[in-house]
Amino acid sequence: MIRQAKYQDAESIQNLLRIFSETGKVLFRSLDDITENILSFLIYEKNNDIAGVYSLKTGWGRFVELRSLVVDPQYSNQGIGTKMVEESIKNALSTDCDTLFVLTYAVSMFARLGFRVVDKEKLPHKVWNDCNACLHQENCDETAMVISLVSMRKSSGAQILSDSAIRVV
Ligand SMILES: CC(C)(COP(=O)(O)OP(=O)(O)OC[C@H]1O[C@@H](n2cnc3c(N)ncnc32)[C@H](O)[C@@H]1OP(=O)(O)O)[C@@H](O)C(=O)NCCC(=O)NCCS
Repeated sequence: MIRQAKYQDAESIQNLLRIFSETGKVLFRSLDDITENILSFLIYEKNNDIAGVYSLKTGWGRFVELRSLVVDPQYSNQGIGTKMVEESIKNALSTDCDTLFVLTYAVSMFARLGFRVVDKEKLPHKVWNDCNACLHQENCDETAMVISLVSMRKSSGAQILSDSAIRVV
């Protein structure tokens, strides 16, 4: 089940993100940052455990970013990452943004789900302010990928996909 995160989830979210921020797979998020932005976090719950988490960041103009996507290693390769990306697309369709983007190492997974690789220069430049918090900084080797929300809304599948209970705030 995917649900909106609550304030009491903040510490668990940080613990899960820390597993991967230590190796630079995702950005480090402080507890304050997570708490302040708790409504942007979604949680994949399994057996009353937080098995996965992701966050959607708006404020990039017509772009919305999927970030902080992680799955607890004990639940990896069970399709949870895929389900969260699919749900994030539904969430993004509920905004008035044109494009959902991600900076990622999991290129094959996103390509399978309809994302395409783009030049990082195509993303809003203020995105790079966050790079100060990244271990890789100037040596960024993540791949920028996008999916067009405009095309999805036009396509026949948009009705089903936009039927998400969770709206991005
Ligand atoms: C990427 C991640 C979210 C996938 O979660 P998951 O629940 O194991 O994913 P699924 O079971 O739905 O699918 C596994 C897919 O992820 C890919 N994958 C998993 N880890 C990966 C990694 N570190 N690099 C590249 N691809 C990866 C697998 O190759 C597989 O892709 P495929 O089905 O196209 O072959 C998870 O491995 C994770 O938390 N990784 C560390 C953090 C990270 O890289 N997050 C993405 C930042 S946007």
